[in-house]
Amino acid sequence: MENNFDVIVIGGGPGGYVCAIRAAQLGLKTACVESRGTLGGTCLNVGCIPSKSLLNLSETFHKAKKNFNSQGIEFSDLKLNLDKMMLSKNKSVQVLTKGVEFLFKKNKVTYIKGKGVLLSKNEIAIYESGKKTSYKSKNIVIATGSSPTSLPGIDIDEKNILSSTGALSLKKVPKKLIVIGGGYIGLEMGSVWSRLGSEVTVLEYLDHITPGMDREISKEFQKILTKQGIKFKLNNKVIGVEKAPDKVIVNFVDNQTKEKQKLDCDKVLIAVGRKPYTEGLNLTKIGVKKDPKGKIEVNNKLQTSVSNIYAIGDVIKGPMLAHKAEEEGIAVSEILAGQAGHVNYDIIPGVIYTSPEVAVVGKTEEELKLKNVNYKVGKFPFLANSRAKVNNETDGFVKIIADSKTDRVLGVHMIGPHTGDMIAEMALAMEFGASAEDIARTCHAHPTHTEAVKEAALAIDKRAIHF
Ligand code: NAI
Repeated sequence: MENNFDVIVIGGGPGGYVCAIRAAQLGLKTACVESRGTLGGTCLNVGCIPSKSLLNLSETFHKAKKNFNSQGIEFSDLKLNLDKMMLSKNKSVQVLTKGVEFLFKKNKVTYIKGKGVLLSKNEIAIYESGKKTSYKSKNIVIATGSSPTSLPGIDIDEKNILSSTGALSLKKVPKKLIVIGGGYIGLEMGSVWSRLGSEVTVLEYLDHITPGMDREISKEFQKILTKQGIKFKLNNKVIGVEKAPDKVIVNFVDNQTKEKQKLDCDKVLIAVGRKPYTEGLNLTKIGVKKDPKGKIEVNNKLQTSVSNIYAIGDVIKGPMLAHKAEEEGIAVSEILAGQAGHVNYDIIPGVIYTSPEVAVVGKTEEELKLKNVNYKVGKFPFLANSRAKVNNETDGFVKIIADSKTDRVLGVHMIGPHTGDMIAEMALAMEFGASAEDIARTCHAHPTHTEAVKEAALAIDKRAIHF
């Protein structure tokens, strides 16, 4: 094999594989190195994709159990076959990872299996099954992603003390599941197991769930999840987990009263964040600088302290989201091909795929208050949206925040059915610098959930029609 490339991307996740495909499209001789054995990174293998499969399947099961009989879809023998559900999830993962391999072939990206180690700023050694092969490249892109973090003294064994990876492959529905951390992973995986029959308790350090999100959404979200049967213990710091025969004991302290408490469960999921994964790359020796949190430092062209080495995705600053990494991958390839390459960090949507979904883009009220920006708010509840009503999915609302003077949309925060798809319209509107009036004057099909967006925009000037 020819071992000289224009670009070698280390890491085949959504950041890395998208970067490699775009670089190849632009005529650069490109290789992508991946050690996992399959492409797609955390997202496709043990993250977004398998979790969305389980979220979808568990929601169908839950609806069948709770709603179908009363809606005229009658049956008497509903059973959960967890093994089959897991097989279905695994099949979805397999199809998609193979799909990325196909895209590599189609775009003539060389797929190198193995673990990459930087030897110099232009040389990489790839280790695969005890064999070392060296490659040269004009440019290198580090896209090695992130791995789950734990708390001091708590070792994840993926048997009873789980990370998101273990929580995606349980063999039995736990009777009691404790989730440490009320963020994206905790609430998505907590929802899956709660729907399948676990008694789920979320322990959260802060006095609210989903830190960083608009507070009104966060409150409504907690209210809805509580109604669904998930228990919350906020303002509690987990200090340790003990293993006992047949159970796990979680120790925590109430932040206000300082009272120590314990709860036992069958399984505990640690969902307290992720850390950049750069181990074994040899970065320090090559001169690639990291910040104190272990994130690789980059300039606005995503260049590291070594000018021909770039970094994208979870290894650098910003939200750890697959679509943010993809945008950065495309930007780097375009920069390498002499184009402008740019990521608009102000307009990166975030979605939590629970039921209902939570979807956000742009500034929260709290952020605007801190910056002394004057704003106005328009809200519309799904209770008044005909499509949501017909489908019996009336929880949640759409909230649009616009600048008081210019009417420009500054942020959109939604909780409700299909909001994970609806947020794209809002991101597009914001990319085009839309005003709330622009959204209010855009014809939205009836009856759709998207009418709630138009109504929220109208509500900014107190002229919503259906509420
Ligand atoms: P997160 O940062 O979303 O939430 C972690 C939570 O743990 C926080 O609320 C934090 O206050 C809490 N916590 C920390 N220490 C604690 C302690 N000692 N006791 C109790 N609570 C404690 O992290 P998460 O959920 O692990 O997700 C990791 C990353 O993965 C996130 O950056 C997220 O963006 C990404 N992700 C995105 C998804 C999506 O886009 N739908 C799905 C899953 C993950």
